[in-house]
Amino acid sequence: MPKTTSSKTGWTFEVEAGTSFLELCQASDAPHDFGCAVGSCGTCCLVLEEGAENVQPPTDEELETVEMCTDERGARLGCQMTVNGDIKLRPANT
Ligand code: FES
Repeated sequence: MPKTTSSKTGWTFEVEAGTSFLELCQASDAPHDFGCAVGSCGTCCLVLEEGAENVQPPTDEELETVEMCTDERGARLGCQMTVNGDIKLRPANT
């Protein structure tokens, strides 16, 4: 199963491929902040440090919200991201 790792906190969780990052965090009590959960507030913004190829590409709507939150390379919205393989991440702007 794919591993999701936080480089900031060190937590690692394994999930079934195709699981949303939001579902992963809710099911495992992973410490990541969420707000609207529909891709509009930017609270869940994160940076993929490894494994960008292991999540689905962002939609134009997701990119618009990401651009409001950060200009960091590899930034995504946790609430819009599906985990398909190993990834390493940290919260954006940290
Ligand atoms: S929780 Fe609001 S954009 Fe993800």
